[in-house]
Amino acid sequence: MELKQEIARRRTFAIISHPDAGKTTLTEKLLLFGGAIHVAGAVKSNKIKKGATSDFMEIERQRGISVATSVMGFEYKGLKINILDTPGHEDFAEDTYRTLTAVDSVIIVIDGAKGVETQTRKLMEVCRMRNTPVMVFINKLDRPGKDPFDLLDEIEAELKIKVRPLAWPISNGPSFKGVYNLYQDSLSLFLSDDRQTASDTLDIKLDDPRIDEYIAPFTQQLREDLELVEGVYPPFELETYLNGEVAPVFFGSALNNFGVRELLDCFIQIAPSPRPSKTEQRIIDPQEPKLTGFIFKIHANMDPNHRDRIAFLKICSGKFERNKNYLHVPSGKWMKFSSPTAFMAEKKSVIDEAYPGDIVGLHDTGTFKIGDTFTEGEQLRFVGIPSFSPELFRYIENADPMKFKQLAKGIDQLMDEGVAQLFIHKMNGRKIIGTVGALQFEVIQYRLEHEYGAKCRYEPIQIYKACWIESDNQEQLDDFRKRKYNNMALDKRGREVFLADTSYALSLAIEKFPDIHFHFTSEF
Ligand code: G4P
Repeated sequence: MELKQEIARRRTFAIISHPDAGKTTLTEKLLLFGGAIHVAGAVKSNKIKKGATSDFMEIERQRGISVATSVMGFEYKGLKINILDTPGHEDFAEDTYRTLTAVDSVIIVIDGAKGVETQTRKLMEVCRMRNTPVMVFINKLDRPGKDPFDLLDEIEAELKIKVRPLAWPISNGPSFKGVYNLYQDSLSLFLSDDRQTASDTLDIKLDDPRIDEYIAPFTQQLREDLELVEGVYPPFELETYLNGEVAPVFFGSALNNFGVRELLDCFIQIAPSPRPSKTEQRIIDPQEPKLTGFIFKIHANMDPNHRDRIAFLKICSGKFERNKNYLHVPSGKWMKFSSPTAFMAEKKSVIDEAYPGDIVGLHDTGTFKIGDTFTEGEQLRFVGIPSFSPELFRYIENADPMKFKQLAKGIDQLMDEGVAQLFIHKMNGRKIIGTVGALQFEVIQYRLEHEYGAKCRYEPIQIYKACWIESDNQEQLDDFRKRKYNNMALDKRGREVFLADTSYALSLAIEKFPDIHFHFTSEF
């Protein structure tokens, strides 16, 4: 019974956005509501400021802050809310993709003046792959922005998801009056001098003549807009949101704390509690009494003299207990943890127990990899934690012959952490690093030197995309391997990868070898 209740009261989600749309600001406001922090400005932005691409101190600073704010838990109206933070810098997008494997829902923040931006589009693709329920918060309504109907059309077209407004803005920019809450049929007024707490919510319905007192001269416009909303968008249905088909949309200003409570109050009512998770063997229900969970993120220690790391375990079923023995499935070893940590806002503390939906920080001396499963004895492997086809590639070479071993170990561990992906060229046996952002190459070089005492250098290689290949047609596969011998590599798990040097070469290969499947994520 206890387990059931604990699961029902948990909401684990991530806030995602294009940099600068207001993710950090919104996170902070949510924490203020939860009483997890008491002043604005307590959550430091974890983004690397523009132009800092080769500033290593900045990278280190980023690592330090992001471990502290990786998971922010707080209590709100009897619920346990876990916000999983995602890196702001787009070069760390792969980290964000992995974090999305550990959440049950997502809030997307969009800048009301800029609309849908590139990073949001990519992240939405990952949500769509997993049918993650998403809510949209259109931010910065205190500034002049796009027309709300245009924004909704843009979201539908660009993010390829149907929308249903659950709040509606009354003007924007300097004349922004507030939002009409369609979910609760009430009016929230914007009082810009009140930045810390929520604004007044008035229980005034649209047809109440008193509404003019508050929102004139926009009453008529609001009535017309809402009529159009009801005409164009079907009524909100919980099921379609939970299936990831329709995204409820809210409007507000995170900076001025406006529209945030409406978002949070609706979120806690409709967002899903922990859902079943897939493994290669079977579906795991969170209410199963035995513990299962997987590692979705590994964070290196800030102190370069200690190579230990924190592994983030997402609990999928059962109850996690301190000092209890659990099976680390990949190694077959039983392990217990004397100081598992939980994260409450910016504080970290040792916990005795945790439930599905929670994230537990485990001390790791270099044993764990992304995707590792923990159980009470069952042989399981969670799926849905793919690697994504990297976009940038370089050969990595040893620059200090005396430190060969250190380099190999360093590369190995950094890849386990998910910093980048390693491929071995079949033709020449050389190591190729693939990343999603240019910054990672510098991070790897810097960390190899400072944490492992090894030096590396990079050499260019012309690759457009790496894709995993498979086919039932053995003959075609053999033919492909022979013809593309110069472009074949193995990934870390020994699977075959085609390194297409141009987009033209890739489309040609797809066309010429119709029985071969080219995959852009490592899981298929
Ligand atoms: P991010 O995490 O998505 O990258 O965005 P972040 O919250 O850091 O916000 C980016 C900028 O947008 C910040 O300004 C922030 O103050 C501003 N902002 C966030 N929400 C709103 C809003 O509702 N209205 C307006 N007008 N601005 C908003 P900055 O100047 O880059 O940083 P700071 O010096 O204010 O921290």
